[in-house]
Amino acid sequence: MNPVIMPPMMDDQATDLRKLVSSIRSVDAAARISGVKSVAILSGKGGVGKSSLAVNLSLAMAELGLRVTILDADLGLANLDILFGVTPKFHMGHVMRGDKELADIIYRVGDMISIIPGGAGLRDLADIDDQKQAWIINRLSNLEAETDILILDTSAGIHKNVLSFAMASDLSLLITTPEPTAIRDSYSVLKSLFQMAGSALNAGMVVNMVKNEREGISVGERIIATAGHFLNVKIPYFGCVIWDAAMMDAVRRRRPLLMSEENSVSAPCFRELARKILEFKETPERSDGITAGNSFIGRLARQIAKKES
Ligand SMILES: Nc1ncnc2c1ncn2[C@@H]1O[C@H](COP(=O)(O)OP(=O)(O)OP(=O)(O)O)[C@@H](O)[C@H]1O
Ligand SMILES: [Mg+2]
Repeated sequence: MNPVIMPPMMDDQATDLRKLVSSIRSVDAAARISGVKSVAILSGKGGVGKSSLAVNLSLAMAELGLRVTILDADLGLANLDILFGVTPKFHMGHVMRGDKELADIIYRVGDMISIIPGGAGLRDLADIDDQKQAWIINRLSNLEAETDILILDTSAGIHKNVLSFAMASDLSLLITTPEPTAIRDSYSVLKSLFQMAGSALNAGMVVNMVKNEREGISVGERIIATAGHFLNVKIPYFGCVIWDAAMMDAVRRRRPLLMSEENSVSAPCFRELARKILEFKETPERSDGITAGNSFIGRLARQIAKKES
């Protein structure tokens, strides 16, 4: 059995979440995921809401009865723990060094959500020796087999590992705010992804901190039109999240919005986004040659191997 680290302040949250999902967990929940089993959340600019999206999407999906694993793949300052109100002692770096087993570093929130604190440890994934890499990949694969959907919270920008995570995922959700610099930077990420994936790019747009839905659509369409014009790809618009003062309260309280401010204006946005993602059908043929296995970890291993050869 996996040892589970459960600091005292999580008890409350675990109970809340269990209550939330116990009535809706159904045996055919996994069958609802037709295509997307891994989602990487990316942005060009920092601070646009990736971690908030990862956390609240995971809760919205857990509400639908899905087992969710969140990989904190922010290579710099991982902060999912802050948003969930947990204090991890160990992270992927300890697993990489062989000090800990993967099972020792995983946090559980209720029965449905597992968090893997990745942090700077993941930065080294491409640089460790083959044997160790295979060992880690193997453990992550076992974990992936026990989850319905994997969500990756990444760092802003186009670090090569972030791009590898995106390429290995079924879907890359690119998030921006209406701010011109955030829009411009999100297009740069899109361009880098396109250079790697070509027309098989599996990316979608989310616009955060909007005044209303109209603003979200208008910002999303600007980026989508630019991508259509210069890259000749059609990027789907997944939706928006309304600017919500309750988001900051949630961070301050270290309790995710969907657990503490259920009736706030942005809560339905996360639920709607979760539904759209689960309904999204993956492009059947990807030209990057890394489709085999329909497994994020399998693809990631191939990405790393490709980079080295
Ligand atoms: N819809 C929203 N309305 C109001 N505030 C928001 C909204 N979404 C996120 N925020 C706030 O914006 C700040 C940054 O959010 P978050 O940490 O999720 O961004 P990030 O993209 O993960 O940042 P980083 O690039 O540093 O990892 C947080 O204080 C969060 O509460
Ligand atoms: Mg973040």
